[in-house]
Amino acid sequence: MPALVTCCIAFLLFSSTLLSAQNTGSATAAPVGLERHPWVLVIHGGAGGPVKGTLTTKEEQAYLDKLNEALKLGSGVLSHGGSSLDAVETVVRFMEDCPLFNAGKGAVLNENGKAELDAAIMDGLTGMAGAVACVTTIKNPISAARRVMEKTSHVMLCGAGAEKFARAQHLEMVDPTYFITPERLAAWKKSRPAPTAKPEKNEPSTEKHGTVGAVALDENGNLAAATSTGGMMGKMTGRIGDSPIIGAGTYASNKTCAVSATGHGEFFIRNVVAYDMSAIMEYRGAPLEEAGKIIIQDKLRNQKADGGLIAVDKDGNITMPFNTNAMFRGFARSTGEQEVAIY
Ligand code: GLY
Repeated sequence: MPALVTCCIAFLLFSSTLLSAQNTGSATAAPVGLERHPWVLVIHGGAGGPVKGTLTTKEEQAYLDKLNEALKLGSGVLSHGGSSLDAVETVVRFMEDCPLFNAGKGAVLNENGKAELDAAIMDGLTGMAGAVACVTTIKNPISAARRVMEKTSHVMLCGAGAEKFARAQHLEMVDPTYFITPERLAAWKKSRPAPTAKPEKNEPSTEKHGTVGAVALDENGNLAAATSTGGMMGKMTGRIGDSPIIGAGTYASNKTCAVSATGHGEFFIRNVVAYDMSAIMEYRGAPLEEAGKIIIQDKLRNQKADGGLIAVDKDGNITMPFNTNAMFRGFARSTGEQEVAIY
């Protein structure tokens, strides 16, 4: 058989394998060089207050600038063929380092005036996930979460164990005071006396909670999600929110979507929000936007639970629903489109 004909047959067989993988929603990566998905990155810097008009124009611009910087960083990863996992980790690290957001430096403080941090990351291709909770000395909890996913047989490590692991992985460690900014300390002092375990008031406020997150679809068609937070202002010591809980605040599956949530964590845990997005799409066949609306605008609003989420599906559709006054958010696409917003 002439070489050219052999080549054509091989190509046709390969193409039909690819097509059938797409039709069945298979979670395999597209072979490099044959198919390039348009990439998408979506980020959030927390939902809650402020009511429009509370922030000065300068303050608003500072948030928008940081969101734009975060998008540029993540876009740099994705536009050079980087993975969605690398993109979401890069973006969340940047937001953890930025004192404006409730994650890493600038996290809200617990009942004892300390920053206790939670983070999670999930790979939509493999279904693998990693998380850390209640950590106080890991500079970038999201990178520790990724190491848990990649270097251990576990999904979540907490407290001293997570910190021992992070040190062994040579991640950057800091004194717990590194995370405390004058603004968060002042807000904490104002919030005294600390709330006890009992009441669950649904008062939307960025001072009470926030969270940062990123979801991405890379040019190989792989989805990933990452979330990091200081949790809720005045929370009990040892309290763990939804962000590091896979399926609650963070979830990704190449079959459906990648999700990062923000809001009153207890409600997001009880409603298994991030996985519910995926399940509504998978089992009900609902499009991404409808799934987000069902959860945030119907289910959670009915429970008077405030918050929002960002999500991207395997086809590059995005949604960013929230039922609060505001949600710091933005997205970027391989087309060059980039937008950020607060209200
Ligand atoms: N959504 C962040 C938290 O409740 O901890």
